[in-house]
Amino acid sequence: MPRTEFIATAFHVPERVVTNDDLAQIMDTSDEWITQRSGIKTRHWVSDGETGASLATAAARKALAKAGMRPAELDCIVYCTCTPDHFEPGNGVFLERELGLSDIPAIDVRNQCSGFIYGLSVADAWIRTGQYRRVLLVGAEVHSRGLDRTTRGRDTTVLFGDGAGVAILGPTDDPERGVLSTHLFADGRHAEKLWVDAPGLAHDPFISEQLIREGKHHAVMEGREVFKYASILMPQSVAAALEANHVTPGDVKLLVPHQANLRIIEMVQKAVGLRDDQVYTNIDRYGNTTAASIPIALDEALCEGRLARGDLLLLTAFGSGFTWASAAVRW
Ligand code: ACO
Repeated sequence: MPRTEFIATAFHVPERVVTNDDLAQIMDTSDEWITQRSGIKTRHWVSDGETGASLATAAARKALAKAGMRPAELDCIVYCTCTPDHFEPGNGVFLERELGLSDIPAIDVRNQCSGFIYGLSVADAWIRTGQYRRVLLVGAEVHSRGLDRTTRGRDTTVLFGDGAGVAILGPTDDPERGVLSTHLFADGRHAEKLWVDAPGLAHDPFISEQLIREGKHHAVMEGREVFKYASILMPQSVAAALEANHVTPGDVKLLVPHQANLRIIEMVQKAVGLRDDQVYTNIDRYGNTTAASIPIALDEALCEGRLARGDLLLLTAFGSGFTWASAAVRW
């Protein structure tokens, strides 16, 4: 069976940069509070006319150009997002349309911050079994329009940013390279610890003025619980990837963690036992872009020359659900 390799990666973020000081103009917060608790200095937010699908399209076109491929050479789209442009259909078909395609499948993956690794696992299985050869894997989010941009939502709103990251995946016959393993986990007992309650068909009507008045359409989170579980479960998922591949932390060239919060990333680094140069972070500039954070960070790491052929790359994520995941890739 062939392994799955990364043919090209790319990302696209909106031009509009929102600083911590900008947020302090619209809610009771400060650069000092946000920097100390999260490590975030700026994030990108969409402007009029931009959508999740438009960000994903821009990122996909960059990746196709890097790969020297035409959209028609893609066999399948795996689109990971928790902030779709519409309630239905999923965003995959909108991206397909924007790329001028009409004859390939598009699946949407709804696993929040773990979305990209869940999507990678799906794409990897399809590629290894030969069902699809060229898969466009997308992580894209527009959080800003859904956030409570008042002091009521400040604990959550300051953390999130918009953006899209993509990878074009395909089979390699080199037995030494490619995706070595993916490890997926979920525990729905914590579903309401980070969630957006409405609109939702558990409500009748599924959207109402009352739901909106109560702020049920905004993401809310029990920050300390999220922090606690992320700090424990992300290192466990990394340990699963190390163990499955009979490697040690010293063998890892680079860990690209989901960029949720610098303090969480530091806890993961410490728990796994990695040096600073083995962990990639860019949360200071983008905030938490959920399913987009790993592909954005991976593309930046590659552009900075942080990975070479044969290096061991680990990915790990944790988020709403709770869901968490890891992957090991021989670059
Ligand atoms: N600016 C200023 N003050 C704030 C803000 C803000 N943006 N948000 C909350 N506060 C206040 C609170 O109201 C509280 O005030 P009080 O003491 O008068 O009641 C005080 O700051 C401390 O609040 P805590 O919630 O106790 O702060 P904590 O140290 O737990 O930090 C944070 C909050 C940053 C959300 C932290 O819990 C955290 O990082 N959690 C993880 C959340 C996360 O990363 N989520 C991302 C999504 S999931 C994922 O991707 C892994």
